Amino acid sequence: MERGYLERLGIGRVPSPCFVVDEGLLSRNLAVLDTVQQRTGARILLALKGFAMFSVFPLLRTVLHGACASSPHEARLAREEFGREVHVFAAAYSDDDMQDILRHADHVVFNSFAQLERFRPAVQACPRHVSMGIRVNPEHSEGAVPIYDPCSDGSRLGVRLREFEAALERDSGALDGVEGLHFHTLCQHNADALERTLAEVEKKFGRWMHGMQWVNMGGGHHITRSDYDVDTLCRCAAHVRRTYGVQVYLEPGEAVALDTGILVATVLDVVQADMPVAILDASAACHMPDVLEMPYRPHVIGSGLQGEKAYSYRFAGKSCLAGDVIGEYSFDEPLRAGDRVAFTDMAIYSMVKTNTFNGLQLPAIARYRPATDEILVERTFGYEDFRNRLS
Ligand SMILES: Cc1ncc(COP(=O)(O)O)c(C=O)c1O
Repeated sequence: MERGYLERLGIGRVPSPCFVVDEGLLSRNLAVLDTVQQRTGARILLALKGFAMFSVFPLLRTVLHGACASSPHEARLAREEFGREVHVFAAAYSDDDMQDILRHADHVVFNSFAQLERFRPAVQACPRHVSMGIRVNPEHSEGAVPIYDPCSDGSRLGVRLREFEAALERDSGALDGVEGLHFHTLCQHNADALERTLAEVEKKFGRWMHGMQWVNMGGGHHITRSDYDVDTLCRCAAHVRRTYGVQVYLEPGEAVALDTGILVATVLDVVQADMPVAILDASAACHMPDVLEMPYRPHVIGSGLQGEKAYSYRFAGKSCLAGDVIGEYSFDEPLRAGDRVAFTDMAIYSMVKTNTFNGLQLPAIARYRPATDEILVERTFGYEDFRNRLS
């Protein structure tokens, strides 16, 4: 995405700050995902934790088979706004969670045999068939950032082989009613990482995969990235389907909306600290927390690295947090209060993770429809949204 994109879109047409998601770019990603489905028979679900902009669900459900949820609220959103299949996984469920989830879910995945045993009667008593699965941990890390690595030491995510075997030794019926295995270990990875992970999963859990109806290979597959090896992914998915006779599911979040949305912000002031600092109406802490958590430096359209172009600035948010710093950028022209800037790849995770720390304004949410050059501002937020989270 470069300057010409912003001119076509016309960022002056949206409020600030504002997420703008491009339906044309979403369709491009969907076409790639559909190829994988057509070639392998795998079903792809949207991971709502990564992208939950329900105004574009009508477009997404033309291709994707459903959505996967991490909580009763996401499960309800999946059922009411997405339709199609609703899959749920959480590290643990309460009794109330399960009661709510069973109103909406088609698949429920458990993170332990204890939870499976506790909730099996409720799932089996549900008038609709709800398919039960168990998440496994292949103990194979692919070098992800530790906080995003479900196979890191001490991770609570997924049953390890020794626990799996111990559960079956204690109770030979421990897997009763279980129709699927789930593993999720990747984060922004290419398909070579999946291939290696799958080999570990098969080595450790393959003997149980034969008896299953489905295998869910989780998310973290960066399928729509330009260098992603779609052939290897298809080979892995087809192999699992053929070898075990199961329906394969993938549940990416990022890959669905990768590079499809920007966050438009406005320069409010430029202060001279040790370097020129542009203070924006967008904030790393409130509107793009992954910048601080991961951490990473998001790209700004039309910018270079610090010192690369004539005018360099640090970009910072308007919250009180001293570390509310987005990164260092340079531009051909000096920045002035009132200038608009656009951060790329902000549809995923940023939109679902916003918060109102300091009472900051939440970014509006808009769709851009390139075919008709329309911008549809779906939501703006105000004082009530801030107040309603407090009492
Ligand atoms: C169980 C599960 N499925 C799917 C996803 C989506 O991953 P991504 O957005 O990286 O594709 C995640 C992300 O944390 C996850 O934990």
